[in-house]
Amino acid sequence: MAENSDASEEVLLDCRKICKSYNGPMVLSDVDFSMKRGEIHALVGENGAGKSTLIKIITGVTGRNSGTMVFEGKEIGHDHSRTGAQGLGIAVIYQELSLIHGMTVAQNMFLTKEPRMPVLGIINIRRMNSLAQAMIDRYGFNLKATDVIDGLSIGQRQTVEILKALNGKASLMIMDEPTSSLTSAESAQLFGIIRQLKADGISVLYISHRMEEVFDLSDRVTVLRDGRLVEVLEKERIHPNEIIRLMIGRCLDEKDSKCVMERKGGEVVLDVHGLSSEGKFSDISLQLHAGEVLGIGGLVGSGRTELVRAIYGIDAHDSGSISFQGKPWTPGVSQSIRGGFGFVPEERRLQGIMGGISITGNIGITNLDSIAGKGFVSDRKELALSRKAVGLLNIKPAEPSLPVGNLSGGNQQKVVVGKWLIRDLRLLIVDEPTVGIDIGAKEEMYQTIARLASEGVSVILVSSDLPELTRLSDRILVLRKGRIVKEFAEGAVTEEDVLRASSGILEGGAA
Ligand SMILES: Nc1ncnc2c1ncn2[C@@H]1O[C@H](COP(=O)(O)OP(=O)(O)OP(=O)(O)O)[C@@H](O)[C@H]1O
Ligand SMILES: [Mg+2]
Repeated sequence: MAENSDASEEVLLDCRKICKSYNGPMVLSDVDFSMKRGEIHALVGENGAGKSTLIKIITGVTGRNSGTMVFEGKEIGHDHSRTGAQGLGIAVIYQELSLIHGMTVAQNMFLTKEPRMPVLGIINIRRMNSLAQAMIDRYGFNLKATDVIDGLSIGQRQTVEILKALNGKASLMIMDEPTSSLTSAESAQLFGIIRQLKADGISVLYISHRMEEVFDLSDRVTVLRDGRLVEVLEKERIHPNEIIRLMIGRCLDEKDSKCVMERKGGEVVLDVHGLSSEGKFSDISLQLHAGEVLGIGGLVGSGRTELVRAIYGIDAHDSGSISFQGKPWTPGVSQSIRGGFGFVPEERRLQGIMGGISITGNIGITNLDSIAGKGFVSDRKELALSRKAVGLLNIKPAEPSLPVGNLSGGNQQKVVVGKWLIRDLRLLIVDEPTVGIDIGAKEEMYQTIARLASEGVSVILVSSDLPELTRLSDRILVLRKGRIVKEFAEGAVTEEDVLRASSGILEGGAA
């Protein structure tokens, strides 16, 4: 680094005219992208805009077709690779994938770079632990060098990833939707870490669909649309509406949030009484009416996912009873499907998708009952259904024969959600339906849920996205440590009200 150059203006990475296609249409066309040293730079765009692809090119996971890349003044050739990127100091923070279980934080940080004893050459564990601990303390992380990975939360694992990158002398850290599975406290901690990294002169490239994070954190924002660079915004031009307009090419006419609860009368569709499952939730009673959207709030780990899984019949419960449409009901997955229940699970990568199979195939499997009348599948009906899902949620590319694994992350999510939304449902359970989904598609999904409810479908919505929860719900139950601690059934409810109840702060100071 030149002695008296202004560090904040120094260009660390300069990509010019990057073009990429995965044996098909152009996914990136002539994209220019640059990172300055010590800046926090957000990369935004709709699902499928090309964000992850650009990152894969920078980190050597996939090649570019053409264009130049210069890092710290040196050209990066077409033989760029993952190890090449690591050697240059370009690190990607994966959410949990790359850590080795059964090993400690320090062992993961120093993997293959362990300090060794002179002469004997064996690993100097004491020194390794103390070096690791010094780095942990410097950043004030909530970890010990000797903690074993297996016992750590997702947020803590992510900090180990960051430590590993720091130890590898990374000067560029890339985070692709890092907060999507963090609690709000963990996210806040991560933002603190990102600012600390910046103060240390490390550049952070950040991808997120959560606009408020982008506004708070970023020094610059690069906007991509359909694989092209739209604009690079400097700090003073980073405004929510401006970014959204550039991202989706139009202004978003967001419906006014109602945020007013109103108990729905009418038929009770689902009646849950005293449902308990040891260690997960206890004594849950709730009634769900026809056409009602019942929101379930609470912190991550409060038992919301476990509760809806038990209602749908994926997991067994220990005691309590359920009746459905006035009759006793024994939960079970095939039972639920026959009864007209839809279920969009939280962990969609594991439970929702077969990546090697086409969009049509993925949608068909959930809907066999309606497409396989006499024992064989009607290709025509299957295709019609998948076209419907593609249209409903604006899945891109709108090509039902594509393997789902070739879609962008957000579009994969839309397939999982879409395959349920096109069914004839009585009851729909959605668990964090819009994580990873861009702001335009989110709006479309909200309208779909509202339309289903207006047609009489009952909806259980689990969401950590408070604006989403307060806006879509007719009534909200808040879970804390496996129990219902609060019901909002009438009148205006703010995000803060829900958060306070979730955190155990109830009116009158009682906890
Ligand atoms: N392995 C692949 N094979 C073929 N096409 C792919 C592959 N990976 C991505 N694509 C296509 O490249 C385009 C850009 O995808 P990319 O994953 O970069 O989007 P993204 O901006 O990260 O979107 P999201 O917000 O949904 O994560 C999409 O049209 C996608 O379908
Ligand atoms: Mg992506």
